[in-house]
Amino acid sequence: MRNNFYIETYGCQMNVVDSEIVVAVLQKNGFHLTFETQNADIILVNTCSIRENAEQRVRGRIDLFKSFKKNNSKILVCVLGCMSQRLKEALLNDVDFVVGPDAYRNLPFLIENAKNGQKSIDVKLSKTEIYDDILPFRYEENKVSAFVSIMRGCDYMCAYCIVPFVRGRERSRNPQTILQEINELEKQNFKEVTILGQNVDKYNWNNEINFAQLLEKIAVSFPKMRIRFSTSYPSDMTDEVLLTMKNFSNICKSIHLPVQSGNSRVLNLMKRNYTREKYLERIAAIRNILPECSISTDIIAGFCSETDIEHAETISLMKIANFDAAFMFKYSERPNTFAARELKDDISDEIKSKRLTEIIELQNELSLQNNKNDVGKIFEVLIESTSKRSETEFLGRNSQNKAIIFSAPSHKIGDFVNVKILECTSATLKGEIV
Ligand code: 5AD
Ligand code: SF4
Repeated sequence: MRNNFYIETYGCQMNVVDSEIVVAVLQKNGFHLTFETQNADIILVNTCSIRENAEQRVRGRIDLFKSFKKNNSKILVCVLGCMSQRLKEALLNDVDFVVGPDAYRNLPFLIENAKNGQKSIDVKLSKTEIYDDILPFRYEENKVSAFVSIMRGCDYMCAYCIVPFVRGRERSRNPQTILQEINELEKQNFKEVTILGQNVDKYNWNNEINFAQLLEKIAVSFPKMRIRFSTSYPSDMTDEVLLTMKNFSNICKSIHLPVQSGNSRVLNLMKRNYTREKYLERIAAIRNILPECSISTDIIAGFCSETDIEHAETISLMKIANFDAAFMFKYSERPNTFAARELKDDISDEIKSKRLTEIIELQNELSLQNNKNDVGKIFEVLIESTSKRSETEFLGRNSQNKAIIFSAPSHKIGDFVNVKILECTSATLKGEIV
């Protein structure tokens, strides 16, 4: 066996980093990464359980990879990530081995077992595993911007959310190793890092360093790098964080602040620790301290018992907050969560769809209007790639995380350039180099 492995990643940014950790672990143990399934002896699928449709999509891929075994019975198929943690043994009927998010160090051992025909599973959740000593291998095409995980797990128990069940307790990473990892990225010529946690505001190293202090340390240590972060939790996001963002021009002016609902009763049912008023107070604080900051959010349509009037409050909150972008979902009941155990998923799919459409249409209008306000402005843009539509144009992002298309014949990916915005759609800005 050549020990070639192929990996496919679904779900959130956290999973992207996890796959990079998996690649690093396997390479260290004599396995070789391939980008072609036909060259692979081992196929790994890193999965997401956040919503049912996320799982369905992955199921299709697993079925396809399973069918490869008909031509080559030696191929091993493995499920990694949140679905393995959720479904555990049940997945073993379909694949050769199953490995949860806290067990990636054991992969080489589990592969050996599987080679010997022994189906194995490791889904132990750990209170301490943070993969601190493993430098993720950045195998994605993008060599400009990388994710750096600063914590794992989540200690909140939002009623709808599977994350605490599949990723375990919250733990923060040693700031020293975070800085080392970013230093390594800078040496490799990366220009931007996005530091990641389920709730970055809860970052806490030995009660000595909080999130704002970590941000400052990173901004001071890497003045030439752009720094982004995700995800903030509304009632935990402090003015200290906002002031740190204001003080450092290399910290990008963009905040992802999931609201989920604009109605306080629904937020309470969701076990979110804030009200509509508190959320809007935090939006006002951002607008006040960082007037040029963009704000994006997550919204769930049709949570248990949500009324039309409560949905209308989400619509009105969206208008007040004037989000630049949003990820919008229909509520999807997840097994074992508080909502699945205690609440009724009683909003019909038809009403969920209707509410979601209304939310999406409004967000498209808000995004378009916000983008129109950018026409005529000049932004510093980091070039990330060529544009999908045209080889002669680049795609880059400004500090606000907006995608900008422009042509710049004498520049290359990884350059910072100034771009004047000439036109826009709700999704992108178009401009010219100045
Ligand atoms: N149903 C629908 N959306 C969900 N999210 C999390 N769990 C669910 C669920 N059960 C959304 C939330 C979260 C984002 C990552 O996914 O909006 O912020
Ligand atoms: Fe899920 Fe809540 Fe944790 Fe976010 S904060 S990941 S919604 S449990």
